[in-house]
Amino acid sequence: MSGFRVDLRSDTVTKPSDQMRHAMARAEVGDDWYDDDPTVNLLQERCAEALGKEAAVFVPTGTMANQIGLRLHFRGPGHLVAAAAGLHVTTVEVMTAATLAGIAYRTVDPGSRGWLDAEETAILLEPDEFYDVEVVDLLAVENTVGAAGGRVMPIEELRAVRKVADDAGVPVHLDGARIFNAAVAASIDASEIAAEANTVMFCLSKGLGAPIGSVVCGPAEMTREARRLKILYGGAWRQAGIVAAAGLVALEEGRERLREDHDRAGRLAEGVAEILPGAVDLEQVETNMVFVDTEAVGLPMLQTLERLAVLGVGATHSGGKVRMVTHLDVDDAGIGVALDAWRALAAEARNGEAS
Ligand SMILES: Cc1ncc(COP(=O)(O)O)c(C=O)c1O
Repeated sequence: MSGFRVDLRSDTVTKPSDQMRHAMARAEVGDDWYDDDPTVNLLQERCAEALGKEAAVFVPTGTMANQIGLRLHFRGPGHLVAAAAGLHVTTVEVMTAATLAGIAYRTVDPGSRGWLDAEETAILLEPDEFYDVEVVDLLAVENTVGAAGGRVMPIEELRAVRKVADDAGVPVHLDGARIFNAAVAASIDASEIAAEANTVMFCLSKGLGAPIGSVVCGPAEMTREARRLKILYGGAWRQAGIVAAAGLVALEEGRERLREDHDRAGRLAEGVAEILPGAVDLEQVETNMVFVDTEAVGLPMLQTLERLAVLGVGATHSGGKVRMVTHLDVDDAGIGVALDAWRALAAEARNGEAS
């Protein structure tokens, strides 16, 4: 037990619903190493279908899905991947990619927007004609963009970026850990977003609410190599149908429900903005994340996190701001608990100033 009255640290903290637990208990299973777990195979089919891709491979984590997706584009180590600074693959996973695939990144700071536009991408992909050393072989993008507060990279911008990559002959890998949040917020089908990348990964274990699991999707000819990499990385997880069964429920039930998370995040953001004017950029709150710039209103960030925890609210930090994420296990009462805690914090700060 986290011990929080409301746990807003991440959308990964959800517990499986009763429906998921029932599905897990009844799951038909086989040995996924041999490719004969029927529930895994069904989930893979459904995931590929949901993104309009030919194939999908089910793996334990989003990190593994990204690492397979990235490595699929290369035969060996020593390749340069272009990306915006601040993406999950260029920060948390940077050492993983270096270790597993020998990948290095060429990055540009995208500023508060969080993603690179077509012009910036074109500069990043410019060929090194003089020395032929800094050759970029892949472009990585992320949607929604976590470091930008869960903002959605607009589909027109993604299309323009894809065109730049196509013109440069560079394939695209999309970290779509929260692609369904992006799709719901933009009122488009996730397949429209996925169409702009050669390989796409997404997480069943985030907003969709599954306890475990992510997938990497792409063309059918990638499947053999993706499965080889999955085994190489230690991800051949035998009777994985047990968790795939929860993944099927998450995929079926979770997508449309994300709207509720977005609505609650919006209400949470508006509430905190009212309590602490200037601390929340409401424009940035497009999906299930709320970033609070406590330092901007004179509250030390780490101390604020500690006080929130004492008041029963789990939150984390990112880019110097307090981060709160809504999810399947956060209801309206939970938002109330969080707002009460922020009110208490603001009152403490006022009293502290007065004394
Ligand atoms: C955007 C993004 N990509 C990838 C991952 C990695 O997923 P996992 O934690 O399942 O390895 C995360 C995790 O938070 C993420 O936010």
